[in-house]
Amino acid sequence: MDWPELRDTVVACTACKLCEGRRQTVFGVGNESAHWMIVGEAPGEQEDIQGEPFVGKSGQLLDNMLRAIGLTRGEAEPSKQVYIANTVKCRPPGNRNPEPAELAQCEAFLVRQVELVKPKIIVAMGRFAVQSLLRSSEPIGRLRGRVHQYQGVPLIVTYHPAYLLRNLEDKAKAWEDLCLALEVSRPAAGP
Ligand code: URA
Repeated sequence: MDWPELRDTVVACTACKLCEGRRQTVFGVGNESAHWMIVGEAPGEQEDIQGEPFVGKSGQLLDNMLRAIGLTRGEAEPSKQVYIANTVKCRPPGNRNPEPAELAQCEAFLVRQVELVKPKIIVAMGRFAVQSLLRSSEPIGRLRGRVHQYQGVPLIVTYHPAYLLRNLEDKAKAWEDLCLALEVSRPAAGP
């Protein structure tokens, strides 16, 4: 599937019961050739209304963190603009956690988004992104701080911004994670 076909398939998807409560699907945003890909969890209320990932409070924190390392979801060249997608494209009712069957149904869309973007680095935010991409149920604290691989792309695990809003003491660790991702995404310096 190319981008238009993938987008249309997501818009029309009724593969799980999340379609019953959504206002709209939330596909993804950013440069389709971005060097960075950010993967979150699922749309919340604001995302369901606006049709864009991470536009609520956790999105503001994410944007601030990205800005601090020179990245943006707004218009920019591929090396400066991120592509942001969620593991699940429809809002779970009441912002409950996505269920395993819902994650499984939606996974192919994210897989194809990664294939099409071909990022140089993926940042997986929170446990559901990690479950989908790394097939791991280990806590974030055990997985962060090192470089994983997803389809041959380096992947960094970090805390979800919504978690950081509730646990300010872990913000410094998230900052370290972004700095690690920055280091990994940069081409090695020549001699
Ligand atoms: N949390 C996410 O993981 N994704 C969103 O789009 C919004 C909140």
